[in-house]
Amino acid sequence: MNNRIMSGMRPTGKLHIGHYLGVIDNWVKLQNQYESYFFVADWHALTTKYDKTENLRQDSIDVVTDWLASGLDPEKSTIYVQSLVPETAELHIYLSMITPQHWVEKDPTLKDIVKIVKDGQGEGISYGLLGYPVLMSADILLFNAAYVPVGIDQVAHVEITRDIARRFNSIYGVEVFNEPQPLLNECSYICGVDGNKMGKSYNNDIKISDSEEATTKRIMQAITDRSRIRRDDLGHTDQCEVAFKYWQIFGAEEDITKIKQGCETGTMGCADCKRCLAAKVNERFQAIREKRKYYEEHPEIVRDIILSGSEQARKTAQETLQEVRKAVRIY
Ligand code: TRP
Repeated sequence: MNNRIMSGMRPTGKLHIGHYLGVIDNWVKLQNQYESYFFVADWHALTTKYDKTENLRQDSIDVVTDWLASGLDPEKSTIYVQSLVPETAELHIYLSMITPQHWVEKDPTLKDIVKIVKDGQGEGISYGLLGYPVLMSADILLFNAAYVPVGIDQVAHVEITRDIARRFNSIYGVEVFNEPQPLLNECSYICGVDGNKMGKSYNNDIKISDSEEATTKRIMQAITDRSRIRRDDLGHTDQCEVAFKYWQIFGAEEDITKIKQGCETGTMGCADCKRCLAAKVNERFQAIREKRKYYEEHPEIVRDIILSGSEQARKTAQETLQEVRKAVRIY
C-alpha cells in the first residue's frame, strides 16, 4: 500500500464556506501527511450538464482558485483538472467493460440523481451518467490511491471502486490495483443561513470569495430563536436555529459563553449577536480572501498551477496505464 490520497470536486463555481469547513480544510491538513492528488471533475459535470457548458472552464478555475486561497499548496499536492489527464478516459474504457450493469444500476447516489434528472427532463438519463461511478473509479484507480477523503455521500462510490479493482485483478490475474479505502472527512457541518443545507441554488450560502459586506448582510439574515420577539425577551440558545450554531463553529470558548449569557438574560439582542458573529466569520476568512484576491489578479499563476499539476498527474497516470494495458494485453 502506498501513502497516496486522491479526491475531487465537480466544478460548481465559486465555493461556499460549507465546502471549506467540510472538505477543503481537511484536504489542507491531509496534504502534509500524504502524497496528495486533488482534481476538478469537469467530465463528471457533463454527466448532468452536458448542455450547459458556457461557464464550465471558468467554474473549474474558480474552484482551483478557492482551493489555493484556502491553503492547498501546489508544492505539496498535485492539483489538476480531469479533462487535462485524458488517461482517465482510457482507463474508464477498460473498467466499463468489466463492470456488470447491475452494479451501476444499484448505485444509491445515482438513484437520487436519476430522480432529479427524470423530474426535470423527459428523456431520462444518459449512458454517461449511468457510468458516473465507473468514471469515478477510473479517477481513483488511475493513481492507485490508498485512501479517498470524501463525505459520507460518496462512500458508496468508493465501495464500487473497490469491487471494480478486485474484479479487474481477478479477471486478468495480476494485482494491478489495490483497493482504496474511504477516509471520512472529519467535517464540521454548517447549514445555510435559513437552516437548510447550504447551497448556492438555495440562496442561503456564504462564499469563500464574498466581500465582508456581503457576508455581514447574509449573516444578518440568519434565523435565530423564533420565539424571541423583542430585544429584551429572554432567548434560548438551544432553540436558536442558525446563529448560535455558527457561533459554535466560529467562536472561541469565551465568545460562546458570553453570547449565551447575553442571549439568555435578554441583554443582547439577535441583531447585535449577529453583527458580532459576522465580524468573527469575516476575521476567520480574511487571510483566505486576501490570498484569493491575489490569485484573481494573477490568473496566469492559477493557469500554470493547473497545467503543471495536470502534467505531473499524467506521468503517474501513464505508469498505471502501462500496467493496465499489459494486464489486458492491449497492443
Ligand atoms: N463524485 C464526487 C462528488 O460529487 C466527485 C468526484 C469525482 C470524486 N471523481 C472523484 C471524488 C474521485 C473523489 C474521488 O463530490
